[in-house]
Amino acid sequence: MKIRSCEFMISAVSRNQYPTNEIPEIALAGRSNVGKSSLINMLLNRKKLARTSSTPGKTQTINFYMINNEFHFVDLPGYGYAKVSKKSKEEWGKIIETYLTTRERLVEVIQLIDIRHKPTVQDVQMYNWIRHFGFKGIVVATKLDKIKRSQRQKQIRLIRKTLEMNKEDILIPVSSINREGKERLWEVIGNTFIQ
Ligand code: GTP
Ligand code: MG
Repeated sequence: MKIRSCEFMISAVSRNQYPTNEIPEIALAGRSNVGKSSLINMLLNRKKLARTSSTPGKTQTINFYMINNEFHFVDLPGYGYAKVSKKSKEEWGKIIETYLTTRERLVEVIQLIDIRHKPTVQDVQMYNWIRHFGFKGIVVATKLDKIKRSQRQKQIRLIRKTLEMNKEDILIPVSSINREGKERLWEVIGNTFIQ
């Protein structure tokens, strides 16, 4: 995909703050700190368009980005961060759920899983949920640069098995540091608009 333009649009918490245009959206979901914001920057060749942080819980609102005036990337708040209060966990949960269940122009959800770890119960729930609502679900295994080459297949198998993915379900390992997997991911994203 050739990026002609990309810009941050708005940070939203409630529905009335979402952009009102009719543009299709691709959302990124995953645990806090898994690399959602970094992936957006990597895909768009921008260092700091989406705010990233080594402290989990950086993105606490839904952030909308406009790409080529054709579609939006939607950076969702991360789930599963232990060090926040029960109340704010519930609030984040609601923010994510409201978006995912009500947004009609949402065409696909990319779910990010850290390639080093077995998907958590919440990851499995999220993936099931994505499928339940009729999305294909693109799984992106992040931080590929952090494991040895010899560990790759083993970790990929673990993720596929834990999420109960079928053979035809898509999993793409990527690194936002060295950009491995970028072309393949763009190809898959491009295909979601073609059908
Ligand atoms: P929240 O906003 O808290 O939900 O986190 P996030 O999923 O947006 O994660 P973010 O992109 O902020 O990245 C978290 C940390 O992981 C940062 O320190 C990033 O530099 C690091 N990181 C993200 N992607 C990669 C990657 O592919 N490789 C390596 N080595 N580090 C990464
Ligand atoms: Mg983030």
